[in-house]
Amino acid sequence: MRILGIESSCDETAAAVVDAADGHPWQLRSSVVASQVEIHREWGGVVPELAARQHLRDICGVVDQALADARSSWTDIDAIAVTQGPGLVGSLLVGVSFAKAVGAARDIPVLPVHHLAGHIESLVLHNGELPYPAIVLVVSGGHTSLYHLPSPGVYRLVGRTRDDAAGEAYDKVAKLVGLGYPGGPIVDRRAARGNPHAINFPIPKLTHDDRNVGPQTHLPEGFGDALKRRADFSFSGLKTAVRRHVELATGGGTRALTETEIDDICASFQRVVIQTLLDRTFRAAEWFDARAIGIAGGVAANAGLRAAAEARGAAVGVPVFVPSVALATDNAAMIAAAGLRRWDAGDRGGSLDFNAEPGLVMLVE
Ligand code: KG4
Ligand code: ZN
Repeated sequence: MRILGIESSCDETAAAVVDAADGHPWQLRSSVVASQVEIHREWGGVVPELAARQHLRDICGVVDQALADARSSWTDIDAIAVTQGPGLVGSLLVGVSFAKAVGAARDIPVLPVHHLAGHIESLVLHNGELPYPAIVLVVSGGHTSLYHLPSPGVYRLVGRTRDDAAGEAYDKVAKLVGLGYPGGPIVDRRAARGNPHAINFPIPKLTHDDRNVGPQTHLPEGFGDALKRRADFSFSGLKTAVRRHVELATGGGTRALTETEIDDICASFQRVVIQTLLDRTFRAAEWFDARAIGIAGGVAANAGLRAAAEARGAAVGVPVFVPSVALATDNAAMIAAAGLRRWDAGDRGGSLDFNAEPGLVMLVE
């Protein structure tokens, strides 16, 4: 079984070929990512129209390269998995239209998959099947969501951010202290040189229900509202605290931050982010008697987060799984893996009537 994955939900055009021999382990044959970061850097963030146009330019070449790297031709491909959502609609449309066109022309089944199912399955692609039940934190530029996986391929949302995603907070803090875009990897490097206790930024706490409460989460029976809130995340207050600190330290912008001050701000900010992410993840692992913890998504590339998660996992005796850095940020290999998961569950694609869904909600089972 050989599947082609296609991903175009944000600012990376990606294609990958993954094999499954009698189930597991899944084998990565190729993974090609055309990043648009140079285009969006000028604007300090992703510009949706520019992203969609660049996907259109890149998609054919990226798929050809993925097939060539996998020493495959279209006749070797048994199915196509494509990101249906969530994401930017113009970007998603490029991948979805491409997949449907090839599916129709060559009579290959097309499986639409959820972007976050892809991030979750990147863990299995990289590490082999996880022990279940598992708790997986998906932490990226667009998402900070906690899932309970009672068994393979079943994803139950137990918490999510009420405002900014963690990666978004990294990008905004990088901007505030005058570092480049995207900020995550730069803040990560600067944090390693700074003092994480130099500044006492507040640990985000959700003490009241707010208007941003999203779809119903799946907490066990008998959990009260107070506990329910504790599985959610919030990063906008922390971002504001960093902004205030920078304003005060620079006298309202009348002097520049020193390199040491920048290192210390990055380290202190990162300490709070890591503690917030891991407190909730490990608490959820306790609730669900998890036998494994996974951390996926772009922020899972963070060296400080990886080290802290592994240390904490070792302390409580729960193994922590992360993907390789290449599989943590957006890629199509994870989308192919999520497609294989659905194939294993008996999904053979079918109608090409589906469309790109910018606000796609993940089905529970
Ligand atoms: O998963 P991803 O490639 O795209 C989304 O689905 O959002 O994640 C991109 C995000 C960006 O916000 C980027 O700054 C962040 O992941 N990121 C990092 C690191 N590498 C990427 N954040 C913290 N530390 C890193 N090393
Ligand atoms: Zn992503």
